[in-house]
Amino acid sequence: MHSRSPALHNYFFKHYGIAGTYVPLAIEPAGLEAALRALAPLRFAGCNLTIPHKERALTIVDEVDAVAARIGAISCVVVRPDGSLFGTNNDVHGFARNILQHQSEWRADAGPAVVMGAGGGARAVVYSLVDRGAREIRIANRTRERADALASEFGSAVTVINWADRHRALGGAALLVNTTSQGMVGQPPLDLELSALPTHALVADIVYIPLVTPLLAAARQRGNPTVDGLGMLLHQACIAWQLWFGLDPEVTPELRAAIEATIPTS
Ligand SMILES: NC(=O)c1ccc[n+]([C@@H]2O[C@H](COP(=O)([O-])OP(=O)(O)OC[C@H]3O[C@@H](n4cnc5c(N)ncnc54)[C@H](OP(=O)(O)O)[C@@H]3O)[C@@H](O)[C@H]2O)c1
Repeated sequence: MHSRSPALHNYFFKHYGIAGTYVPLAIEPAGLEAALRALAPLRFAGCNLTIPHKERALTIVDEVDAVAARIGAISCVVVRPDGSLFGTNNDVHGFARNILQHQSEWRADAGPAVVMGAGGGARAVVYSLVDRGAREIRIANRTRERADALASEFGSAVTVINWADRHRALGGAALLVNTTSQGMVGQPPLDLELSALPTHALVADIVYIPLVTPLLAAARQRGNPTVDGLGMLLHQACIAWQLWFGLDPEVTPELRAAIEATIPTS
């Protein structure tokens, strides 16, 4: 199974000595509503949602916060004391918190950001960057229309670059983020020539299997600072625990090591 979420959340159950468990459930799209409505009677504190349920859940839960509404996807559902369902998206803050843990002085408005991809992960990343004051975000996506749609939702700071021009678009960038599935285990590396990217630019990949994607390896080799995608996963899980249990876990070296041990390094 691709998801590291069971290992991650069950680490927290053990850490806090809570008699609970996080289980992966394979739900068919037709069964999503019934599954979500069963959470309260089954005494679940909540759940995470993954593809293909993130968008449809918006129409099922009782309340959606502004972040999930703007992104158009729910990643985390909270069962409230009265049994009603609250939906949010923790990827946004997970992305920024991960970078800040690596570079506490990082600022989204430090210079142009280039985002490769325009899928669900990209929406969270772009939201996060806009929310933190980014003044220029260049998006390049294989399917141009998807990038256009994303840009039209997030205002004038976001511009769309043709996929063919993505290599040159790295010129002058302060941040490069891969949000495509390229570089993930079983997928070819992201086809991106880094020569135009300043060597001080931060390179982040939200793909976390493998931990060191070909993009991150290439960036490190030329001296760019890098941030891998595992931290984003860990940080969004910490936010979920605040919402589900009122606890405030941190991304510690022990937590990271426990989950890293389940992931091939390259
Ligand atoms: N670290 C984390 O916490 C975290 C959170 C979310 C996602 N992720 C990871 O991010 C990756 C993307 O997830 P997602 O939810 O955003 O998926 P998604 O919505 O399906 O989007 C996939 C993206 O990859 C692009 N793509 C796919 N095949 C491509 C190819 N051959 N060449 C160029 N681009 C290609 C797609 O472009 P088109 O629009 O042209 O198809 C799209 O932009 C996954 O590996 C996922 O595990 C990590």
